[in-house]
Amino acid sequence: MQDVLPEGGVIRKLWIGEADKYRDHILRLDPLSRRNRFGGGVSDDFVRNFVDISIGLDAVVHGFFIDGVMRGAAELRPLGVHFSRQAEAAISVEKAWQSHGVGSALLRHTLLAARNRGYRLLHMACLADNWRMQQLARKFDAELSFDFGTVVGEVESSRPTALSLMREFMSDGHGFATAVLDLQTRMLRA
Ligand SMILES: CC(C)(COP(=O)(O)OP(=O)(O)OC[C@H]1O[C@@H](n2cnc3c(N)ncnc32)[C@H](O)[C@@H]1OP(=O)(O)O)[C@@H](O)C(=O)NCCC(=O)NCCS
Repeated sequence: MQDVLPEGGVIRKLWIGEADKYRDHILRLDPLSRRNRFGGGVSDDFVRNFVDISIGLDAVVHGFFIDGVMRGAAELRPLGVHFSRQAEAAISVEKAWQSHGVGSALLRHTLLAARNRGYRLLHMACLADNWRMQQLARKFDAELSFDFGTVVGEVESSRPTALSLMREFMSDGHGFATAVLDLQTRMLRA
């Protein structure tokens, strides 16, 4: 999996205990991006509660980090016991980092994680006027089917294979090494 990202940027899974990074990223979104992310305007308090609850719900969150700051996120969350093969996905990228390939890379990682967890259907809540997200989803035509006539798009993800599991495992190993290096650099600076 080759990510084309802004220089110095990495994508890795969020660790337990890093909820504050996710919350701060969402709070930094400009009003339009926040509206598009949540399908409507939401308050800071809503965002704080949302992140606390979301992290506790078996969500797999991939973050885009640059200089140790989370500037983009992709969340994959199971829909619950009654919908065992279905999950919800959502992506957000801070304005200054949009249109640099970050959203595409985050969706690619999320699709791989969904496939390896056996999710057959991904729901992505996308407002009808959110052209950017629609363009982004179209790039994954081979793996996704997306109905833009409705507010909720449905995504078919393919079955896991040994290779797809290995790709996620290797990406996690790379992300772990990067996170440790990043932590060491910040400790040396302090
Ligand atoms: C939607 C969003 C995640 C896209 O992230 P991004 O980092 O800008 O996406 P990318 O740079 O990978 O671009 C993906 C595609 O979007 C389209 N795109 C990018 N910038 C665009 C722009 N300024 N205008 C129109 N289309 C654009 C292009 O088709 C692009 O593919 P290409 O670069 O191969 O041509 C980001 O805009 C965002 O966070 N928006 C607010 C939250 C949101 O809408 N989330 C989706 C709801 S789940």
